[in-house]
Amino acid sequence: MDDYAQFIAKVKRKTGIDLSLYKEAQMKRRLAALYAKKGLNSFTELFAAMEKDPALWHECLDRMTINVSEFYRNAKRWEVLEQTILPRLLAENPRPRVWSAACSTGEEPYTLAMVLAQHVPLPRISVLATDIDENALARARLGLYSERSLAELPEAMRKKFFTKDGDWYKIDDKIKRTVTFEKHNLLADPFPGPFDLIVCRNVLIYFTEEAKRTLYRKFHAALRPGGVLFVGSTEQIFNPGLYGFEVEETFFYRRK
Ligand SMILES: C[S@@+](CC[C@H](N)C(=O)[O-])C[C@H]1O[C@@H](n2cnc3c(N)ncnc32)[C@H](O)[C@@H]1O
Repeated sequence: MDDYAQFIAKVKRKTGIDLSLYKEAQMKRRLAALYAKKGLNSFTELFAAMEKDPALWHECLDRMTINVSEFYRNAKRWEVLEQTILPRLLAENPRPRVWSAACSTGEEPYTLAMVLAQHVPLPRISVLATDIDENALARARLGLYSERSLAELPEAMRKKFFTKDGDWYKIDDKIKRTVTFEKHNLLADPFPGPFDLIVCRNVLIYFTEEAKRTLYRKFHAALRPGGVLFVGSTEQIFNPGLYGFEVEETFFYRRK
């Protein structure tokens, strides 16, 4: 086994994270940049150093899981969700079950809760939000954000659902209570469900084609018939029919 393959095996044994399901060139480049920064020469040396230094584990996990997110990311897509997809879903089920899979630091599930709150009373809203990265989840639970993460959020929503606290914007407690954060590895853990809507954006791009195909099947099984999978703006599914989906709108796939 080469240096990187051995590293993958050791990380999997230790954390359950299977790096072989992530696109190799990208992941290798990011982690090699980390060992170079630390003055190390190989993945073997990186793993040995990580074993001695928990902070380096943290840094390595940070490189593996790219946490970039923002509220209302790709605003046009959220408008389609609000104007076209949600009215149908809500007509079919007035108590929708919603999952933000790979939710990072919480911007996406809180956006979902805010958008839903425009249509249904808060007690009817329940959003499950999961990610593999516990640090990201801890920040999500805190619910404090910088101006930059709110850049795309419509002004009316900012006014309604945030309070300014020094340099930070704090998400409204009533919105916060509608979201449950849990740790979940999309590539290893059983899927919850059934859901009316699954939002999984800007994470599939990091996975191998084979891992993606497995995930499409699992998302399909986790949706009720008529339920929708909402993917990121570079993540269109090639041949959705193969997985039991039809295109409802670009980036929105309805379970047949
Ligand atoms: C770029 S962020 C996307 C956040 C959000 N969905 C958005 O579009 O703004 C990617 C997230 O995927 C998470 N992630 C990576 N691999 C994962 C896995 N196997 N299972 C669950 N989450 C994963 C990372 O921890 C990170 O928070």
